[in-house]
Amino acid sequence: MDTPFDPEVLLAELTLEEKASLCLGSDLWHTAAVPRLKIPAVMVSDGPHGLRRQPEDAEHINSGSLPATCFPTAGALGSSWNPELVRRIGMALGAEARAQGVAVVLGPGINIKRSPLCGRNFEYYSEDPLLAGVLGEALVSGLQSQGVGASVKHFAANNQETDRLRVSADVDERTLREIYLPAFERVVTDARPWTIMCAYNKINGEYASQHRWLLTEVLRDEWGFDGLVVSDWGAVHDRVAALAAGLDLEMPPNLGVSDAAIIAAIRNGTLAEDVLDQTVLRVLRLVQRASTTFADHPVEFDFNDHHALARAAAAECAVLLRNDGELLPLSPAAGDVLAVIGMFARSPRFQGAGSSQVNPTRVDVALEELRAAVPAGVEVAFAVGYGIGATDVDEDLAAEAVALASRADVVILFLGLPPADESEGLDRGHVDLPANQTALVARLAAANPRLVAVLATGSAVRLSTWEHHARTILVCGLGGQAAGGAIADLLLGAANPSGRLAETFAVRLEDNPSHLNFPGEQGHVRYGEGVFVGYRGFDALDRPVSYPFGHGLSYTRFEYADLVVAVDRHAGDGELTVTVNCVVANIGERTGSEVVQLYVGDPESSVSRPVRELKAFTKVSLEAGAAETVTFYLDARDLSYWSVPHHGWVLEAGSFDIAVGASSRDLRLTTTINVTAPPVPVRLDAMASLHEWLVDPAGSAALREAIGTHPDGRPRGILGDAHLMSIIGNFPISSLAAFGDLGIDHTTVTELSRRLAR
Ligand code: BGC
Repeated sequence: MDTPFDPEVLLAELTLEEKASLCLGSDLWHTAAVPRLKIPAVMVSDGPHGLRRQPEDAEHINSGSLPATCFPTAGALGSSWNPELVRRIGMALGAEARAQGVAVVLGPGINIKRSPLCGRNFEYYSEDPLLAGVLGEALVSGLQSQGVGASVKHFAANNQETDRLRVSADVDERTLREIYLPAFERVVTDARPWTIMCAYNKINGEYASQHRWLLTEVLRDEWGFDGLVVSDWGAVHDRVAALAAGLDLEMPPNLGVSDAAIIAAIRNGTLAEDVLDQTVLRVLRLVQRASTTFADHPVEFDFNDHHALARAAAAECAVLLRNDGELLPLSPAAGDVLAVIGMFARSPRFQGAGSSQVNPTRVDVALEELRAAVPAGVEVAFAVGYGIGATDVDEDLAAEAVALASRADVVILFLGLPPADESEGLDRGHVDLPANQTALVARLAAANPRLVAVLATGSAVRLSTWEHHARTILVCGLGGQAAGGAIADLLLGAANPSGRLAETFAVRLEDNPSHLNFPGEQGHVRYGEGVFVGYRGFDALDRPVSYPFGHGLSYTRFEYADLVVAVDRHAGDGELTVTVNCVVANIGERTGSEVVQLYVGDPESSVSRPVRELKAFTKVSLEAGAAETVTFYLDARDLSYWSVPHHGWVLEAGSFDIAVGASSRDLRLTTTINVTAPPVPVRLDAMASLHEWLVDPAGSAALREAIGTHPDGRPRGILGDAHLMSIIGNFPISSLAAFGDLGIDHTTVTELSRRLAR
């Protein structure tokens, strides 16, 4: 019988050269093996909206991959707001990965959509960290339940493609803590991913691959991450510095260079052997996890089932932005003509380009699916309408489409970005659909106002220049290989739209909070909007948007009632718990799902905070006439901000706005709660201002006693002059001491600072 695989025992037997070899892969997709000790290599492959497993004889990193189910991209799945659905996709992905001998799938990408221009937005879930974290957690736990590891990427602040291997994302700590890190924190603490992939870029001047604060202090020491950190492909520049910072596995391997550098650093004492040993142990534990979980799980799945899941998922991701006069769903009868226009109806656009590109097992074509689904006698006629990749209007194609629209009962126009606009490696330069498509919308609407626009884009586009020509807009994202079937289901009412926007659709690109600081220049991108990313910024600036974060219609209607909010415990007498209850009812004619969203605002905060932030959500499915009570729980963290001086989350006492609604700008039920909390400690020293001393109960008492009162009881010095206090109360008390006649002298300052030092 083979001896069990024991990382600790193996570590003791490895030579220095073998240890160094394990810190690098052996090729593009494998870790290194040590045959002498029977340590096998394990395989990693891209994903995660499907598996991109390259065959062993692949020519290069971008050549083809084996067939796999192409599920909706993360950008589309973000709009589902349904972690259960995402978990099921993770499980299906895990089964396909195991069948192909893949130990780790390189995903999900959970970076925040900071700008609509980011070329990889279709690979990311949302502009909101809660939504990105909940869906990322679901994918990872589904995947790992099948014995396949995840690689949550790209850690961290990787929010653009421009200069992606070198640019420094200059982000203040509060913004990192509140916006760019929480999704990773949630996935790490709740789903315990096997691996994390570091980003290419620098963060505040240091490469993510060499960022000790990020890879060790935050990830491991604070969040308790016990897995392995892998580099993004080619992200390591100084292997020894990366190792010391906490990066375990370099991919692809810089063979002969990185291993030699590690060996030299150990020999000359610049790298402690214990640091190398910890890294090697983490690599061995990954190999152990991969080998043991593979051994015990027979893989059984059916590609047809996965295709059906992909179809149901694509239907859940679609967002019905508008539906004037309830044009959808269609119920065509014999003799009706449906005019299907646009190349994307026949050549579907369902995923983006780059390392996530999947070779689908099959592809549903919307035109064919519609033809198969309509009742007998309904004509589903097609016109190409426009050329893909072109921007000029092709008069012949346009005229043919207009002629078809004129004789049809309804026009279904498929629009989308050309594939070259949405790819890893490139950011977009604008947010417009090609001009030949938008020009066609106007002409078709003039011929037939009953116009439905079906949009395939992986990220937000500008609608404001043409949307008034469409009665109905259905945004399908990049919905995977079964999107065509899902679109037919949605148009004909076999499925009811239940997607909600996971990112704001701005009126203009220039309105986006990140606009002045994207994509940066001369090696730096300043995250100047701070925590005001996406709707947080639009709301703070009170800017109109085309469609807000969280928006999406249904073929039925929902009513909200009976908001009850209870503050069960206050900070100070234990953990804070706020319970929020409301009743949601389906008051329409059809079964449908509503995404109930809970937003919190802190209008009295001492720091600048968003007007409202998503703190909880749930998706409820209700039959016509049914109602359900929805309950949310909030804790102290949900009401807190990250305080840099306090190195932690700070809850300030006072009132908080609680709002429940159907989008960030459709708040149906609102109330205010009062929360008591201990005063936020202020460092009381000579440089603390008079105001800061007075706000603190102990500081105020000590200062008032030291300054004293007149015989009639009035406070002496500056404390007796409210006007003066309003003008120079923000001076440090040591500066006030220099004025002589304000009742504060240097002896008092020294004495009080000593007494109240914390
Ligand atoms: C991408 C990663 C991907 C890796 C391997 C990199 O260029 O940024 O997301 O997993 O390549 O293909």
